[in-house]
Formats: sequence, structure tokens, C-alpha cells
Amino acid sequence: MSAEPDFPALRANRYRDLWCGQVLDDRVDTEARVAGWVHRRRDHGGLVFIDLRDRTGLVQLVFDPDDAGQAFELGHRLRSEDVLSVAGRIVRRSPETVNPELPTGEFELRVSEADLLADAETPPFEIEGFSGEVNEDMRLRHRYLDLRRERVRHAIEVRHRVAKALRDFLTDEGFYEIETPMLSRSTPEGARDFLVPSRREPGSFYALPQSPQLFKQLLMIGGFERYFQIVRCFRDEDQRADRQPDFTQLDVEMSFVGVEDVLDLNERLLAAVFERVGGPRLELPLARIGYDEALSRYGTDRPDLRFGLELTELTDLLAATEFKVFRGVIESGGVVKGLNAGARDVPRSVLDGFIGRAQELGAKGLVWAFREGDGWRSPTAKFLADDELRALNERLGAGEGDLLLVVADRPEVANAVLAQLRVELAERFELIDLAAEAFCWVVDWPMFAWNADEERWDPLHHPFTAPAGEFDPARAGEARALAYDVVWNGQEMGGGSIRISDPELQERVFEAIGIGPEQARERFGFLLDALKYGAPPHGGIAYGLDRIVQRLLHADSIREVIAFPKSASGADPLTGAPAPVDDAQLRELGLAARGARRA
Ligand code: AMO
Ligand code: AMP
Repeated sequence: MSAEPDFPALRANRYRDLWCGQVLDDRVDTEARVAGWVHRRRDHGGLVFIDLRDRTGLVQLVFDPDDAGQAFELGHRLRSEDVLSVAGRIVRRSPETVNPELPTGEFELRVSEADLLADAETPPFEIEGFSGEVNEDMRLRHRYLDLRRERVRHAIEVRHRVAKALRDFLTDEGFYEIETPMLSRSTPEGARDFLVPSRREPGSFYALPQSPQLFKQLLMIGGFERYFQIVRCFRDEDQRADRQPDFTQLDVEMSFVGVEDVLDLNERLLAAVFERVGGPRLELPLARIGYDEALSRYGTDRPDLRFGLELTELTDLLAATEFKVFRGVIESGGVVKGLNAGARDVPRSVLDGFIGRAQELGAKGLVWAFREGDGWRSPTAKFLADDELRALNERLGAGEGDLLLVVADRPEVANAVLAQLRVELAERFELIDLAAEAFCWVVDWPMFAWNADEERWDPLHHPFTAPAGEFDPARAGEARALAYDVVWNGQEMGGGSIRISDPELQERVFEAIGIGPEQARERFGFLLDALKYGAPPHGGIAYGLDRIVQRLLHADSIREVIAFPKSASGADPLTGAPAPVDDAQLRELGLAARGARRA
């Protein structure tokens, strides 16, 4: 995406009457005053050249003793990142000095007057000449310097434009933006809460919201019909490239709607916003794929549809196999799944690497093979019967020389490992069309997944998600949810559902996940009560705003699109958070810190 040339309205004041980026043709031979930071300085003895930077770009200043007078002396002393206001005449550069890299590169400002507004110490890293070399901790510790880089500035600008486009679209569709509390009770979205101790009630805690889920439902019960919010959410979970402990959602809720209404609104929202900010052109309606099909074909509920390499179920072909690895897995209820990676010339060391990677991802092993005639070239070929090899080749659609990879394990493990290998193989073999953008809805989710450690059902979304059709707690494993996720190039962008609007059904769903009536009342009594006073059918969605902007910019991490992100370890190198507090503060809260760093 290219940055629009964008010069915010400017009223002249004592510091400037023009943005640096506006030093263009129509200003030649006029006087102007600009302000900003010294981006680069070149001293050619008699003349000093400064690239001055503000938010709109760079302009070359020339300090010439003939026109600069007293200012010339200042020109000599300037250092990178000093802050200046200068006045002078805009002139055309001589042809041999034109800088074609800069929009203002044909012009320069010959300084007649200059004010040094702030002296800068030498920054700990160069502002431009951007690259990943500066270590991230250093960048985040001095984020105010990092923010001066064009790439970061651009990301923050795009983020603003996305937020503005969302607000405009939703406002036109009749939505109100409504704030909800940050200090509240836990909303279960599957992560750990951040807690805030109460001073007035020692031993009691607020929880920071993992999402505004319950408040947006209460807003529907309160009659607002259409709500949205660009809102900070807090989840204490392990960090990844697309996760932060505090992150931003676009949160949306609507009343008197079913699944189709919500999907339709959201498709139009995505298309409109992308059109306004220069994102991908969407073909509507977006593709839809059922959860079971996504798992079967791609091994994951967030399939990347930009390439094939689909997974293939092989278990039934191996029902009578003598190969002890496969037989053992099948007998204990596991599956054998594989994929055909196509005709590839890969050395043994790389194949060993695939096995290592599969094990790292949790598989016990990985079978690799190349189709050769009716059989396989593979260390495993000798354990499999000829008719099994023929059937495997056929099912996998293997041509001569195709590389086949097979995993046997519990279904969750086989799927997860092959899903990840599929993506890594596509990258390695360059099967991903980088110009393609693949969106889909994943629909028709199960309500619950079995949590073997805790021996109970966990909701796949959250426990306020409505089941499709009648709900029988005795058959929780078969229950389907009116839930949907939107996936973009293999990344989950957003998810939502139609909600339960019947208090009795809500209690039964709580019961199914092991929240008995007493506990339900204790934790969610306010919701159960509210549902009794006339709850309209309602549903909605939430997107990761950081992720949308990250994808739009093809950034590696959401940290690139957040003004003040946390580091990979969840700390803030800029402020030093999290940090110890005084004993007195703890006493006031009725707390004692055990084994902690002292303030
Ligand atoms: P969910 O938990 O799926 O749904 O969150 C919605 C979206 O928020 C983004 N997201 C995150 N982004 C960055 N860092 C994180 N730690 C993080 N966690 C989630 C993802 C995700 O798709 N209340 C429900 C929504 C609903 O039912 O309406 C909810 O929060 O992009
Ligand atoms: P083993 O009998 O454990 O030496 O395994 C024989 C071959 O099967 C090796 O190439 C292993 O990598 C592979 N293998 C072992 N376990 C699995 C599994 N669960 N799925 C796929 N291949 C496996």
C-alpha cells in the first residue's frame, strides 16, 4: 500500500507556514518557514546541507554564508535530530543536484533565518537506514525515536485510516460507538485474566476485560440494537507474533439478527474498509468452509487457502497393516494422514529435517516417501504391503517421484503437525502466490472440545455462544454452534457468534461445561438476570484490529503496528513495566508480595 500524499491543514504560526513535504513546484520563488528534525547533515565546507524532516516528508535546506548570515554559524553546529524552525526562499535545484528519491528532490530551501528549538543528543541508533538490525529491545526502549522512522509512521497512519474507515462505515449502518468498563469482572475468553486489586475491599479484585463480551450483550438487552467499539482487551497469555497482552479489538454486536445478517454486514464492512484504505479487493460473498471440512482438508480451523497441499485421510487403507507404528496408532483410536508435496528433489538431510520438525511439533515421527513405480522409495516401504502402497499412492494422487509425508497419531496431533508442515512446505517450495489474498468464513463449529486433562467440555468460542437447534447437555460432543471465524491467509482475523438469549438455555450450557447453578449465579448472575427481562435475539463479532493492520502492511508482527507495544516477553522496555511497587502501596491494598523484586 502506498501512502497517500497527505498534508494536514496547517495554520501558519511562528514555527512554520508550510509542511516539509509541500516544498514543491507551486512554491518555487516564494518565502516559507518550515520546522522539524535534522534528518541528515552534509557539510561541504562553504555550504551546509540539511535534510529537514517532519511528518509529511523531507526537504533539503541550504545554509549558504551569503544568504544565511548569522544562521550559517548554526548550520555548522547542527546535529542529527536537533529540532529547528527555519525561514528562507524556495528555489529549484540545478539539474545535477536533483534527488529523484525525494518528492521534494527538485527543490530546496535557502535558509535566511534559523531557530534551534531543541538540541538532541546522539541517538542510540540511526533513525533511517531502517532495518531489523537494531535490536528490538533497543527500539522499544527508545520507541519515541523508533516512531520517527518512516516505516513506523506509515504503519500508525494506516492504522488510523483503518479505524476511521471502520467508524465511518459502522456509523452509516446505524451503529453507536459505546464505551464499556475496563475495571470489571472476569469475562471468560479462554485466557488468564489481568487482575487489579481493590483498595476499598482488600482481597477483592477487578479483572481487566479479555473482551467486552458481556457488556455488549447487556447493551443489546438495553435496547441499543447496534453497537461497536474500538476497544482495548487484556489477556495474560504467552506472546506470539500476532498476540499482545493488551491488544485492540473492533467489537460489534447487533440485535434481531441471525448468522446470515451478521456475515453479510461484516463482508460489506471488510470490502468497504479495504476499498477506503487501499487493501485487497474482495469478491463477495466470501468463501465458506465448515469446521469439520477445514480440519479434514487443512488440519486447522484457520486454513490458508492460497495454495493446495491438502491433507488426505489414509486410516481406512491401513486397517489391516502389519506396520507396527501405524497399527498401534490405529488400534488406539488414532488416525493416519498424509499429504502429497509434489515432485520435489530434496536431499536426505532435508527429509531428516522434516522428521525433526514434525517431532518438534509434537508428532512421534514422520514417514517420508517418493512414489517409485507402484511402490515407494522410502525407509518405511519395506514395512508396508504392495497393495497398501498402491492404495496409498492412489489416494494421495501420487505421480512418479512425488514426495509423500505421512503422520500417524491422535487426530488433534496429526492435524496440527501436518497443518504446520503444510504451511512450511508451501513456503519452502514457493507455492504461495504472494499477490493472492484468500479470505474465508469458517462456519458450523462444534460447541465444545473435550479437555482430557480436566475431564470436561470446554467451549470452542465462549460459553455465551448459541447452539444450533435443540441443545442436549447429555450429547454435548455433538452440539453445533452458531459461530463463525473470518480467516485471512491462514490467520484468524475475527470471530463471533449468535448468542444465547434464553436464561434457561444459558444455564444448561453452563452446566455442560461444568459450571453448576451456584457458580453460574455467583459469576454470571447479572447476565442470567438480564436475560430474564426481555433479551432480543442478538449476535456479533470481534476482530483483532492489530492483526488487520499487520496483514494490510505485510508486517511480520503486530508489534510493528502498535505505537507502544510490549516486547516478546510481555514487558515494556520503555517504561520498565511490569515493575515492583512500594510496600506501603501493597499494604494499602491488603497485599504482600512474596519473593518479589523490591521497589
Ligand atoms: P476472540 O477471543 O476470538 O473473540 O477475539 C477476537 C479477535 O481478537 C484477536 N485477538 C488478539 N489479537 C492480538 N493479541 C491477542 N492476545 C489476541 N487475542 C485475540 C483475534 C481474534 O480473532 N468476545 C469474542 C468475540 C465475539 O464473540 O463477538 C472474542 O473476544 O484477531
Ligand atoms: P520406529 O519403528 O519408531 O523406528 O519408526 C519407523 C519409522 O516410522 C520412522 O521413520 C519414524 O520416523 C516413523 N514414525 C514413527 N512414529 C510415527 C508416527 N506416529 N507417524 C508417522 N511416522 C512415524
